[in-house]
Amino acid sequence: MTWTPNSWRARPVQQMPKYKDELALARATEELANRPALVFAGEARRLRRQLADVAAGRAFLLQGGDCAESFREFSTEGVRDTFRVLLQMAVVLTFAASKPVVKVGRMAGQFAKPRSSDMETIDGVSLPSYRGDSVNGVAFTPESREPDPQRLLRAYDQSASTLNLLRAFASGGYADLQNVHQWTLDFVKDSPAAELYAETADRISEALSFMRACGVTAESAPALESVDFFTSHEALHLPFEEALTRRDPNTGSWYATSAHMIWIGERTRQLDGAHFEYARGISNPIGVKCGPGMTPDELLATIDALNPANEAGRLVLITRMGHNTIGEKLPALARAVTQAGRKVVWSSDPMHGNTVKTDNGYKTREFDKILTELETFMEVLYAEGAHPGGVHFEMTGRDVTECVGGANPVTEADLESRYHTHCDPRLNADQALDMSFRIAESIKRVRRNNTINAA
Ligand code: PEP
Ligand code: CO
Repeated sequence: MTWTPNSWRARPVQQMPKYKDELALARATEELANRPALVFAGEARRLRRQLADVAAGRAFLLQGGDCAESFREFSTEGVRDTFRVLLQMAVVLTFAASKPVVKVGRMAGQFAKPRSSDMETIDGVSLPSYRGDSVNGVAFTPESREPDPQRLLRAYDQSASTLNLLRAFASGGYADLQNVHQWTLDFVKDSPAAELYAETADRISEALSFMRACGVTAESAPALESVDFFTSHEALHLPFEEALTRRDPNTGSWYATSAHMIWIGERTRQLDGAHFEYARGISNPIGVKCGPGMTPDELLATIDALNPANEAGRLVLITRMGHNTIGEKLPALARAVTQAGRKVVWSSDPMHGNTVKTDNGYKTREFDKILTELETFMEVLYAEGAHPGGVHFEMTGRDVTECVGGANPVTEADLESRYHTHCDPRLNADQALDMSFRIAESIKRVRRNNTINAA
C-alpha cells in the first residue's frame, strides 16, 4: 500500500473537529504547508538513536509538559520554568539510574485534545467540546467553541516561539549542570521531605565536586552546560500534521516537522484508522498510548504496523492503565513483546489512568496513586525481563494546585486556589521534583531486589 502525507484521508478518522467553512481550513493548511519546518529530520534521527539506547536499557526517557498548551498562558517564564523542572528531574534520574536521560517536552505543539464527548452541556446549554487551543476556545460561548482554522496558524507561531526559547535555554548556558543542581539543593532545603531526599542530593553534590576537582568544568566539557532537548505532542489534528510533513532531501524519507516525536492517543489508535495510516509513513519516533483495554494480540499488531522493520528507537509504548489495573494487565503485554523479540521503549504515563473528579467538580489525580502506578510499572517490567525505559508526566514548572498530595501536600480544598489547566490536572514544580526523588528511590529498590534475585 503506498503511503502519502494525505493517504490518511481515505481512512475512518476519529476526533476531528467539524469546521463550518472547509475552504477556510484548506486555506489555513495551505499557508502552513508553505511555512518552514519547525524541527529537522536530522534532529528526529538523533532522538531515534537516543531512544534506541533507551530500548536497550542504556538510557532512560523523561517526557513531560502541559496536558494542553494554551495561547493565553504562553510566556517566556512559563516555558523556562517547565524546562528547568524537567532538567532538575533529569539530573536526579541520571544519578539514580546511572544512565543518560533523554529529555522530551510535551511542548511547542501540544495544542489539540481528544474528547470523550463531542458536546458539552452546562445548565441545559449544549456547545461543542473544547478541543485544544489550535481548534477552539475554552470559554463556554458559541463563538469561542466554534472551530476556527486560523487557530492552526497561531499554534504554529507559538510553537515556533517556544522552540526558539527552548533552543536558547538548552544551549545558552542556562542548562549548566552546576546551576541545575543548585536549584535542586534549594528545593530540598525547603522541602518537608528534606531528610528523604538529602542523601541523593548530597551524593550528586559530591559527584559534581569530584568532577570539578578533576578539571571537568563547563569550559573543558561543553556538554555540561548544554543539553539535547526534544519536543513532542499528540498527532491528533491530521490536517495540521499533513501540512508540516516534509520529505528529507538527504534520505528521501518523510518526516513530521511539527515535533521531533509524536504520539497516537488512546482514543485514536485504531489499526485501520487515519492516525495509524499517517504515523506509519513518517520516520520520526512514534509513541502509542496503551490503555487497560489493550490485548497482547492487538499490541503486537500495533507494533508491526508502525515498526515493521523492528528498529529500536522507532516506537515508544506509553502505558496508561491506572494504579490498580496495571499489575493485572501489563505482565501479559510485556511477555508477548519480549517473546516476540520486538524492540520497543516501555514508558509509563501514570497520569491518564488515575484521573478522578472531586465532590466540588475538579478533575484531579493523587500523587500516591501516580507513584504506585510507576512503581508497579517498574516491578512488572523487571520481572518480565524488560526495561522500564521511561516516564511521561503532565506537569508544569508553575506553582499550580491541580493534583493532590506530594511532600508539601496540596489538599482537595486547595484545588480552587490555582487550578489553571485547560484540560487535565498537572503536577506542579514541587510535586514533579518530589516525583523524581521518589522514582530514584524505587529505581534503587528494584535494582537491589533484582541483584538479590539474580544472586
Ligand atoms: C494526553 O496525553 O493528554 C491524553 C489525552 O492521553 P490518552 O490518549 O492516553 O488518554
Ligand atoms: Co491529558
